[in-house]
Amino acid sequence: MPISNRRVLQVICSVSDLRDSISPLQLSSKSIGFVPTMGALHDGHLALIKRSRAENDVTIASIFVNPTQFNDPTDLINYPRTLQADCANLEENGCDIVFTPTVEEIYPSGTAKIQVDYGLLTNTLEGALREGHFDGVVQVVRRLLEIVTCQKAYFGEKDFQQLAVIRHMVKLESIPTDIVSVSTIRETNGLAMSSRNRHLSDSSRSAARAISKALYTCSELQSSSNLLELKRDAIQYMKDKGVEPEYFEIINPDTFEVLLTLENQKKARAVTAAFVGEIRLIDNMAVGVTEANRISEPQPY
Ligand code: PAJ
Repeated sequence: MPISNRRVLQVICSVSDLRDSISPLQLSSKSIGFVPTMGALHDGHLALIKRSRAENDVTIASIFVNPTQFNDPTDLINYPRTLQADCANLEENGCDIVFTPTVEEIYPSGTAKIQVDYGLLTNTLEGALREGHFDGVVQVVRRLLEIVTCQKAYFGEKDFQQLAVIRHMVKLESIPTDIVSVSTIRETNGLAMSSRNRHLSDSSRSAARAISKALYTCSELQSSSNLLELKRDAIQYMKDKGVEPEYFEIINPDTFEVLLTLENQKKARAVTAAFVGEIRLIDNMAVGVTEANRISEPQPY
């Protein structure tokens, strides 16, 4: 009979129980990888779990729908909560511990918002359109990293600006955790996986392909390419397919400055947010200036 090597997932809700579980791991010098999430897990989240499992002795995930990062209260109420299925997925993928705290555990002194200003990193694109969003993200990730003391924490390139903001916060505050980025996991038609995709009808799902297709055209740019023309064409292409872009920009991925030319540019990233009906989706791709720039390999769709 085959012997199952599946580990049993430990579900922990309180900070003190989590600390009790982490202390002996640290005493025995086990490396800990941490994957913060808001649940409603899909293969994108699970890629982070798999990566952490491959690189650490113990993997801890968190599922916490953080109220302070939602600028729209309806969004917070409607956020999908699928704890049972999430736990089954985590166990299946070898996660050791899932931390599922209440709001009170995370914010014992209340949910008063903090404000962060990391210049363009927090003030442009998502930062400009979703007021207070990155304040909440920084607040919760800072708190989670304080609770889950880990060597490495894993974040998806799917939320490219979030990744940059978190990297900046960790550096600024000298938090001794390596931030590891994981490439975007896509559906076979190119659509970046997202917990919001479950709200797409069949026809919207098909229209949403235009987002990754438009980005893909940027992955093959030359340094002489006319970026203004390219952005205009990408926006028009999405509109023609029934997708309404909020922004489509090509940026320096370190500073988040909008680029007007690729000349003398070692790295660039195309980033976009677009509505498919009521559903707002974000996506991004490396612009093919140099091979070194290709964190993830774009695929033609
Ligand atoms: P959530 O949207 O649940 O995402 C959790 C992590 O999964 C993030 O690092 C996100 O970038 C990554 N992820 C989502 N879709 C992905 C995909 N298709 N491919 C690869 N990675 C993907 O992002 C958050 O939660 C929250 O803001 C959080 C960081 C947990 C703070 O509350």
